[in-house]
Amino acid sequence: MEFATRAIHAGQEPEQTTGAVIPPIYPTTIYAFEEPGVSRAGYEYIRYGNPTRHALETCLASLEEAPAECPALCFSSGMAAIDAAFRLLRPNDRLLLARDVYGGTTHLAETILRPNGVVVEYADASNTELFIEAITPGTCMVWLETPANPLLQLTDIAAVVQAAHDAGALVAVDNTFATPYLQNPLALGADIVMHSSTKYLGGHSDALGGALVVRDPALRARLWEIQKVTGAVASPFDCWLTLRGIRTLAVRMQTHCENALRIAQFLMGHPRVRTVYYPGLTDPNQRPLVQKQMRGMGGGMVSMELEVADAEKLLKSTTLFTLAGSLGGVESIISYPAKMSHAALPVEERRARGISDGLVRLSVGLENVEDLIADLEQALG
Ligand SMILES: Cc1ncc(COP(=O)(O)O)c(C=O)c1O
Repeated sequence: MEFATRAIHAGQEPEQTTGAVIPPIYPTTIYAFEEPGVSRAGYEYIRYGNPTRHALETCLASLEEAPAECPALCFSSGMAAIDAAFRLLRPNDRLLLARDVYGGTTHLAETILRPNGVVVEYADASNTELFIEAITPGTCMVWLETPANPLLQLTDIAAVVQAAHDAGALVAVDNTFATPYLQNPLALGADIVMHSSTKYLGGHSDALGGALVVRDPALRARLWEIQKVTGAVASPFDCWLTLRGIRTLAVRMQTHCENALRIAQFLMGHPRVRTVYYPGLTDPNQRPLVQKQMRGMGGGMVSMELEVADAEKLLKSTTLFTLAGSLGGVESIISYPAKMSHAALPVEERRARGISDGLVRLSVGLENVEDLIADLEQALG
């Protein structure tokens, strides 16, 4: 079945007792046992399992092309999902992080993993060949994000997988920006896909959540054990909202991509905009990768480089782009990495990563694209 069909039907058969077409929210924490040690339908306690969560987990696994025996694991947040994956690592294990991963991922690695003895290493993943050189026989896990934030650079997942597997390392890909609509890292050989479902999967800026999806039942069993004992599971209500969002993921992502491409093209022609970052459009070297691993589309995020004064004016003057720190909702969002997502980095480090004080990031929403362009035009002046 095609993606849009699976988004609406996988894990979402009408409910057995009443025929409810929409999977109900099960707020119960406990389930009546048939007899001691024998549950009625496999459910015992909310932290171990919940039907609303399982519906979402089944659907997500299908969208990420995981085998049926590997439902996703849904967490209370994206960070909780990353934390669970990182708990696979032991003291002296080596973790290779792409340099431009989400700041929270780096923060977690530095504040929790490194003090506990995990060797945390970084490499620039915008050049796949150089990144691969940083993978050594001692590397245990490689953590990637593609497109990466905020310059939307791509890494060749299949090439990294090959090098990492040769070295005996697991590959985890944060697929939050691309979503399974554009990119399926498991099908490219990755071992773990991670999502902040708070973004495009939920899609309406009203539900917090995270997920891990894997294709090896033994790895899933280890991660499930970690989730069960640490307890950062997604709430039934957040699962229900996320599943509701996922039903329209295909049409939303299609429009996010179309709108973002139009806006990137408009910005490329604007005299005040110095550089535009949009996968597959602005850097010819990335075009083959967009075709190879992103189904030919660049996603819903666009970044641009301006004079600082122009950037400040734009941030103050847009009326349809809300100044906010997140992404992936139906509404358009504008953010300023130097003072928001990347403010904690020392200036030299920001500069080294190409994040100037004139960099602005857009999460392009589903408003009418002509309205969005008109708003940017008036705000750029
Ligand atoms: C790419 C990426 N990964 C992970 C996270 C963390 O997710 P959450 O905020 O749901 O904990 C975020 C949040 O912004 C993100 O953008």
